[in-house]
Amino acid sequence: NVILEVGATPVLVDVDPVTRNIDLDKLEAAITPQTKAVIPVDLAGLPVDRDRLYAIAGKRGLRVIEDAAQSFGASWKGRYIGTSFGDQRDFVSFSFHANKNLTTSEGGALVLPADIDTGLCERLRLQGVQRFPDGGMDVDVLGGKFNLTDIAATIGLGQMKNLQAFTARRRKLARHYFDCIDPALGLELPVADFSNSNWHMFQVLLPEGVDRGKFVAEMKQRDIGVGVHYPALHLFSLYRALGFKEGDFPHAEDIGRRTLTLPLFPAMLDSDIDRVCTALRASLSETA
Ligand SMILES: Cc1ncc(COP(=O)(O)O)c(C=O)c1O
Repeated sequence: NVILEVGATPVLVDVDPVTRNIDLDKLEAAITPQTKAVIPVDLAGLPVDRDRLYAIAGKRGLRVIEDAAQSFGASWKGRYIGTSFGDQRDFVSFSFHANKNLTTSEGGALVLPADIDTGLCERLRLQGVQRFPDGGMDVDVLGGKFNLTDIAATIGLGQMKNLQAFTARRRKLARHYFDCIDPALGLELPVADFSNSNWHMFQVLLPEGVDRGKFVAEMKQRDIGVGVHYPALHLFSLYRALGFKEGDFPHAEDIGRRTLTLPLFPAMLDSDIDRVCTALRASLSETA
């Protein structure tokens, strides 16, 4: 949506069926002389390969806008996403929305590259206002109301103290899912990455032919809430109206049809994961 918002043309690229992140081979193939920037998403907190990403961007002269909404606390080769990678870091955007690993209920943070005027970003953030020491103010640019409130910031600073513990607990719970999901159920599991990913979500792909709606209802009957993140976005009406259609991005479509997000949050107990796994088996046997 942000691409349309600024009047640019979105060029979508299919995802890799294993990582479920942008396919970097297909990204390279989609770049044209008109391409200005690439917006990779770290889906479920699994980072896109930053080495390859920045190698492609560097070679083709592209800006990178890292949609790191889901990867706060995740790492790439031992360094947190959003920290400086030398020339391997451009513009990074985090979300602190209510469902994120660290939340301020609503809000987020930008990590800006050296050539972006931080003062301009601050003015754009809150109605273009620039304040002077004598109490005066000026407005020289059309700003919005995108500020994080002081209350939200205070919540976020409090939460920051728990971030490492949250991430460690999520990794442990994710491991437990790998241990307890029976391979015979035929679920496709996410990449088993316990060093980079922050395990924002644990997502499985349902076996071909399982009715996801029925499956979700079966899980609900067993008091387990599950989610769908996300249907392929090019099939939303807004994007169909731009000319996108079925078959354009087969991997995104397949994942979008079969993906299911299982419960995963730091306060879960190991026994909760066991309960989800038991419900998975029972629900699959009802719907397969
Ligand atoms: C991948 C991704 N990008 C962007 C956003 C938007 O973040 P926000 O809700 O803080 O605007 C979200 C989540 O909400 C997201 O998951």
